[in-house]
Amino acid sequence: MFKSDKNKTKAWKKLESEYKRFKKVEMRDLFEKDDKRAEKYTLELDDLTFDYSKNRFDENVLNALLNLAKERKVEEKRDAMFAGKKINSTENRAVLHVALRNRSKKAIKVEGKNVMEQINKVLAKMKKFSDAVRYGEFKGYTGKKLTNIVNIGIGGSDLGPVMVCEALKRYWMKDINCYFISNIDGTATAETLKNLDPETTLFIVASKTFTTIETLTNAKTCRKWLVDALGEHAVDKHFVALSTNKEKVEEFGINPENMFEFWNFVGGRYSLWSAIGLIICIAIGFENFEKLLEGAYAMDEHFKTAPLNKNMPVIMGLLGLWYNNFFNIHRYCVVPYDEYLKYLPSYLQQLDMESNGKGVDKDGNFVKYSTGPAIFGGAGTNVQHSFFQLLHQGTDIVPVDFIVPAISHNEIGTHHEILLSNVLAQGEALMRGKTVAEAANELKKAGKSEDEIEALKKYKSFTGNRPSNILLLKKIDPFSLGQIIALYEHKVFVQGAIWNINSFDQMGVELGKQLALNILPELQGKSFALNHDSSTMSLIKKIKNLRK
Ligand code: F6P
Repeated sequence: MFKSDKNKTKAWKKLESEYKRFKKVEMRDLFEKDDKRAEKYTLELDDLTFDYSKNRFDENVLNALLNLAKERKVEEKRDAMFAGKKINSTENRAVLHVALRNRSKKAIKVEGKNVMEQINKVLAKMKKFSDAVRYGEFKGYTGKKLTNIVNIGIGGSDLGPVMVCEALKRYWMKDINCYFISNIDGTATAETLKNLDPETTLFIVASKTFTTIETLTNAKTCRKWLVDALGEHAVDKHFVALSTNKEKVEEFGINPENMFEFWNFVGGRYSLWSAIGLIICIAIGFENFEKLLEGAYAMDEHFKTAPLNKNMPVIMGLLGLWYNNFFNIHRYCVVPYDEYLKYLPSYLQQLDMESNGKGVDKDGNFVKYSTGPAIFGGAGTNVQHSFFQLLHQGTDIVPVDFIVPAISHNEIGTHHEILLSNVLAQGEALMRGKTVAEAANELKKAGKSEDEIEALKKYKSFTGNRPSNILLLKKIDPFSLGQIIALYEHKVFVQGAIWNINSFDQMGVELGKQLALNILPELQGKSFALNHDSSTMSLIKKIKNLRK
């Protein structure tokens, strides 16, 4: 679409020339020349501030990027999603996680049917059940309150719930504890179950398809653990399922009355707003879960209605794409300065990389341009002491999103002020850097000799001109968290729309699953390994020997 001459679009070409004009411009000069830069390039929504001024662009670049969004019909594509059109083209499905948090009374229709009715019905069921568990009305088989809630799921059926539960830990009911089993590694199950009492444990088996081998295997192990302790009759009081697949839920041995339904128009990595959020409701209460939905809805409305140049997800998406496709930077870092948000980078990894890690466009052509970047991150200030060296002085530039609440849930002494000063310092350091001359000057002031200055000045210099965004919020609460998650969802959408890829399937995970199914019986000695490369063959042999 973009790189072959035939298809290179006007806005894309303009951006190529903008890149040539602009690539050497230093952000520190832009700030010096324009003392209104931060004001100009900051957006606000409720208590959320998005400062994108420390990025490598000027008004001309921004206009060219906005023209690209128009040319690639981002607004029309967005409207098609909200209108329930089947934009997941390879699976012929609508994409309606936005309907799950539609707090208006407006209908959203798929093929003429208002999906809000079924969504609200399940939400009501989630409220009833989560209240009953929280207040001890729905008890375990032996009559004890269920206080240990274990979510068994993987990917989108795990990362959203675990990230949100952890982020909102301060809102948990006092006597409720949440656990998450995702990995097929038996250690995950063993380490979780070893401290639990079957009589007070509720298992939530979360799987959109209810065919995922990791989840079903873990769920079977947990079911056996429960039945061994309390008997088969206890299952109804200790197991619920979240799924789109009623048949498989029944087949597994969970009462369909204990099933919370969702639908194919909800992608796994977009599902925390659906029944998949049940553990969140139990932990923080349905009213708080509704606030999470409200926050996401506020961002949805902003995305739908704000003009492109004032639209947070659009600007965020465009800047990411600017680095990805014009600076050839194919990595992206997210650093929340908040311990409660420590799982956000892992969550965003799936959201972004499973959505936009695609190589075929919506017209069925192999793409000739880069799509989704590799996402990584971790909580600050911890990561300052691990990978930030590379962010500051490495040869590869990595754009960073810093996410920080102005107020901590744990304002102890000066902890939070130290944390805040660090996040601001990181953004400033990445942007400004330190020239060799500045480094030399500093060394001189510190009393170093000429020889020492000469030897050290380059090592002590920082190229700077490294981009970062700051997302500043007042406090991590359900509403602000909902806003942030939806912001990232829509950023991913904007980029996928411009790249003309389907951000809503995940066929890239299939091949590995398929091959694992062949290898499993070979490892178990039930069939012979024949059709593998020599490396895989020899590893199968070695593993079998080691496990004898
Ligand atoms: O393997 C990828 C994937 O399909 C994800 O997209 C999904 O979130 C995860 O597996 C779990 O799937 P399920 O909810 O159907 O168990």
